[in-house]
Amino acid sequence: MTRQPADHEIGALSSSQDAESKTFPLTDECHHYQLREDVPWDIQKYWEQRYSIFSMYDEGIYMTDDAWFGVTPEPVAVQVAKDLAESTPTSKTVVIDIFAGAGGNAIAFALSDRWSTVIAVEKNPSVIACAQHNAEIYGVSDRITWINDDCFSYLKKIKPYSSETVIFASPPWGGVNYSLDDVFNLKTMLPYSIKDIHSACKTMDSALYLPRTSDLKQIARLAPEGKKVEVVQYCMQGASKALVAYIPAAA
Ligand SMILES: C[S@@+](CC[C@H](N)C(=O)[O-])C[C@H]1O[C@@H](n2cnc3c(N)ncnc32)[C@H](O)[C@@H]1O
Repeated sequence: MTRQPADHEIGALSSSQDAESKTFPLTDECHHYQLREDVPWDIQKYWEQRYSIFSMYDEGIYMTDDAWFGVTPEPVAVQVAKDLAESTPTSKTVVIDIFAGAGGNAIAFALSDRWSTVIAVEKNPSVIACAQHNAEIYGVSDRITWINDDCFSYLKKIKPYSSETVIFASPPWGGVNYSLDDVFNLKTMLPYSIKDIHSACKTMDSALYLPRTSDLKQIARLAPEGKKVEVVQYCMQGASKALVAYIPAAA
């Protein structure tokens, strides 16, 4: 039977003092572009795909200009949420999206109804405001605990609760040129290398959303002794958008 976390546990998971707030207001950096001529030239190709990214875009989805480059398209986010739900033992009831961005994945986790607690951590106040607003549009904002904080600091605070927690991490990949190399070097990923991220998450099961061309040998080295890492490519219209490495917690 699934154990619901006690109130004091949720409190501890979500307590990051001043960083946490119930509502983050939209800022001048948050936009809902309706006309192509209003869209900055370098994000026009992403805006053209807006309904694949958020099917409810026209309901008033907000993004910062940078968030367009990293948001997980909705069909991929939904499939990742389904796969993470199915591959995780029912004893684990908390999922933490440590790079929540505009909310693509956090919304899908909340919609999946698999988790007693979905926590979204995002360090940029304008971006978390967009994510919270977007989650409102999908009707799940109040099912997500919003944390405006640096995820590495936040993870240090929640260590005692790690046995019931799964981490989802979709880090920045270092800008739009990430796909220029045939094999993406995760050691030099910016601003956080795979080692930085894995070190922070490895006491918990984790799912890392990474470039589709990521070096699989580097991912394989993250497997704890005697355990396997599963890598899944997520495709839309026949083309891979990203891979997710599902990594069990280290003993
Ligand atoms: C690739 S985006 C995530 C996209 C997200 N999965 C979505 O679907 O919208 C990465 C996000 O991580 C945030 N970020 C970067 N460093 C962070 C940190 N140390 N702690 C928390 N958030 C961070 C960035 O501001 C950015 O919004």
